[in-house]
Parts: sequence; structure tokens; C-alpha cells
Amino acid sequence: MKIGILTAGGDCPGINAAIRGVGKTAIVKYGMKLVGISDGFTGMIHKEYIELTEKNLSGILTLGGTILGTSREKPFKSSAKGSKEISKPVLIKEHYEQMGLDCLVCIGGNGTIKTANLLSQEGLNVVGIPKTIDNDVWGTDITFGFDSAVNIATEAIDRLHSTANSHKRIMLIELMGHNAGWLALYSGIAGGGDVILIPEIPYKEGKIAEYLLHRAEENKPYSIVVVAEGVENPDKEKSVAQFLSGRITDLTGLETRETVLGYIQRGGTPSPMDRVLATRYGTAAADMIADRDFGKMVALKNDEIVAIPLAEVAGKLKLVEPDNPLVIQARNMGTSFGV
Ligand code: F6P
Repeated sequence: MKIGILTAGGDCPGINAAIRGVGKTAIVKYGMKLVGISDGFTGMIHKEYIELTEKNLSGILTLGGTILGTSREKPFKSSAKGSKEISKPVLIKEHYEQMGLDCLVCIGGNGTIKTANLLSQEGLNVVGIPKTIDNDVWGTDITFGFDSAVNIATEAIDRLHSTANSHKRIMLIELMGHNAGWLALYSGIAGGGDVILIPEIPYKEGKIAEYLLHRAEENKPYSIVVVAEGVENPDKEKSVAQFLSGRITDLTGLETRETVLGYIQRGGTPSPMDRVLATRYGTAAADMIADRDFGKMVALKNDEIVAIPLAEVAGKLKLVEPDNPLVIQARNMGTSFGV
């Protein structure tokens, strides 16, 4: 068999470990051939790929990013009306045939899984592998990339404590997560955030101010506010951390500073946990291909690798329920969610 592998959407630590897991198992265990598609679905549209040997897969386990490149190309987004060009899905199907592929492995987040499902419905053999620092892919307990990002964000929060204490300030840190607050929730708890704001729990400015003033009255010299980038921000000119920092100063008179952690959260070497998870997903995907078990995504359920139909996953998001046990436990300890 010959398998194509692509990585699409925002990158994250652990992608190369997954490519290696799929590739080594496919080559060593099953004697399959492997090609790496360049830059996500863009490479399928332009037929840009390289043959991968086992040698190409050595030394990539600990590398951040993706050796194949990625893009946010969404081939099923309709092309301009009246366009005479061949549609992108048709090109992908043609190139899949021309390249002699028996299966296309799509490593990505929600957008990628959606496209993978549509390609599967068009008749291609597809297997999905979930990845994202946001941990918001439906159907799996965890995505790789998340643990590394939690480590990075937690270290950043840890470092804010000492400077916040020295200056007796309110420190806001903005973390990634447009729709889902998993990263802010986990690193907020791990880093001892006093206030954790996530998109799934709408905050009230007044409640945050009340809580921070109460801490100041109790002689707590500083407070840490962890904010997911996707919480409500009426000020389109400023980051949500900048906006909230200003509002907190206005409402409390307390001195505030903000940090936007940005792409540091997605860069660099994967954590050991992500390397293991990505390897488990990759090897399981190769086994599924050998069994011709297509149209599915590998997932983790109660620490077991399972396969879920792409159609079940596509179009859904795994969000933090406001009554998630971690939220309840944090609230029981006095952490504020701004409500
Ligand atoms: O892929 C998920 C994510 O990390 C989000 O948390 C973030 O908002 C987004 O990617 C930004 O990525 P880009 O700027 O590459 O589109």
C-alpha cells in the first residue's frame, strides 16, 4: 500500500512524532510506501509531495512544528461564482489517483477533520489524527500539543508570580483558545491563577473587580488573572488582556499589567507526554490503514486508543462544560471565574 500523510491547520508540538509513528510502523511493520504532502491540503491541490523513507523519519521525534509544512487551506470552501477552474476537491481526487495513494492520513484539528470527512465522503480512503494545543477536538479525551502548551503557559504564569509580588500588581496573562478554555483552565489551575476567564463561562467585569479588591483588602499583595483569548472583548482595537487590564484599573484603582503569550505556546519541542500520545496515535493509524479501517479518526478514550467515524467528529467542538469537575474544584478553592 502507499499512504500519503499531510499536516494541516495551526501547528503544535508533537506533529513530527505522529508523522514518525505512522511512517515507521507503515514502513517497518507493513512494508508500505509513504509520501509526505507539502503544506496541508495545498500540497494535494498542487500535487506537491516528497517520498519519505525510514531515514527521513529519524531524528524528528523531538522537533517542534511539522517537517511537512502546514496551511489553513480549506478546499471545500466554494470558489468564486462562475469560476471555470477545476474545483479543489476534484483536483485533490485526481492527484490522489495520480499519486497512486491507497490512503490519506490527515493530521489536524477541527477544520482538518471536517475536510477529511468531506474527502472521505467523496470516496477517498482517509484516516484522521487529532492535534491542537486547544484540546477542543470532539470525541477524544485529549489531543497532542495540549500538554506541551500547558507546560509552556504554566511556566509563564509561574514567572509572573515573583514580579507581580515585587510590584504588588494585578498581572493578566492572555493564552490561546478562541472557542475552548482548556488551556487557560489547566494552566490557570497549575499556575495558581486567582481568576480564570474562559469563553464557555461569560464573565462580569464587576465580579472580577469585587474579587480582586477583596483579595487586596485581605492583604494579598498581588493577583494573577489567566484569560483565554476568546472571552468577550468589546474593544476591537486591543487584545482582551489589554482591554481587561484597563477595565480592572478603572474599577479598582489597582495597578495592572498584561502579557500576551502568543505563538510561544505552539512552538518548540513536544513534552514527553505529547511525544508518547502522538506516537500512540500514529502507530494506531498505521494499523487501521493495514486493516483498511478508513473514514475514522484515532482518539483516546479512558487511556485506550479507539477509532471514531470522521462523520461523528466533524463540525463539533469539545468545550469546557461550566460544571466540569475541574471548574467546580477550582471554585471550591476560591478561584474566581468572573461570575
Ligand atoms: O490552532 C489553534 C490555535 O492555536 C488557536 O488557539 C489560535 O487562536 C489559533 O490557532 C491562531 O493560529 P493562526 O494565527 O495560525 O491562525
